Amino acid sequence: MTVTTASAPGKIILFGEHAVVYGHPALAVPVHEVQATCRIEPLPAGAGVVIAAPDINFAAPLSAAPEDNPLAAAVRHTLAACPPTLPINARITVTADIPVARGLGSGAAIATAVVKALGQYVGRALPPQQIADIVFAVEKIHHGTPSGIDNTVIAFGQPVFFQKGRPLQRLAVGRPLTLVIGDTGIKSQTRKVVGNLRRRRDADKPRYDGWFQLMGRLAPAARQAIEAGQVARIADYMAQNHALLQQIGVSSDELDRLVRAALEAGALGAKLSGAGRGGNMIALVEDNRAFEVTQALQRAGAAQTIVTTVGSSAKK
Ligand code: PMV
Repeated sequence: MTVTTASAPGKIILFGEHAVVYGHPALAVPVHEVQATCRIEPLPAGAGVVIAAPDINFAAPLSAAPEDNPLAAAVRHTLAACPPTLPINARITVTADIPVARGLGSGAAIATAVVKALGQYVGRALPPQQIADIVFAVEKIHHGTPSGIDNTVIAFGQPVFFQKGRPLQRLAVGRPLTLVIGDTGIKSQTRKVVGNLRRRRDADKPRYDGWFQLMGRLAPAARQAIEAGQVARIADYMAQNHALLQQIGVSSDELDRLVRAALEAGALGAKLSGAGRGGNMIALVEDNRAFEVTQALQRAGAAQTIVTTVGSSAKK
């Protein structure tokens, strides 16, 4: 056995978050500027499997890790899917520079890196759909009812048009899009935001389902605009999507402030991205405005900013 490493990108949702949980389509793209990495190195016979996450000072034998530990779950699900011929003795170490609980898919990225690396380590390069399925099983431990969009976009590492229960469709990008991601610095638990929204929706189904339907229509329209490289149309759909996300109660003062700051600094369009109530927003910019928009977001209180290009083959 030789040392094996694998990485997975972060992700952002461009259109359709929350509506996707209710069966509507959504668009998501990988963010290659942030990565989770898994390194597997052999240990002497009898040592067993040790899992380690030095970023959070965690290390434990796999056999002692609780059922609901996501790192252990990723390892166990992968070993169940591709059982090794001999017992494994290895240290599995994960590291990531993806901010946690900000809608950048850190959990799914870490699990994806583990599944990929471990598959390779036992001599099986798993196909992206199988990786996505294993990561989905891991995501369910802490996310309750995930739509499946995070694990899918991260396992495939490509822009996707995603709808629950339907075969994955790739999203072609007609003209590279420059996005500035602004982090409110506020941690947001997707499970909580999704659960609270479900309660509000159950109390007033017609209104909420109407909003979800409108968001669901934006996703295919935005897909067309992205494929055609029509940035003004994309920007308009972002504004509409953000307004709908405000209606369903998942924006926040901090997110709205960053969205406003980006638009005032010349962004073409902006919206929150992911679960909301904290986490990230995204701004679509002309290349030559990325710096100004980044500075404006920082002045408006962004804890972190990332500039990413969607649809460029350049990867970190
Ligand atoms: O993990 P986040 O913050 O990007 O949120 C995921 C998007 C939701 O639509 C809110 C939930 C889901 O499972 O799709």
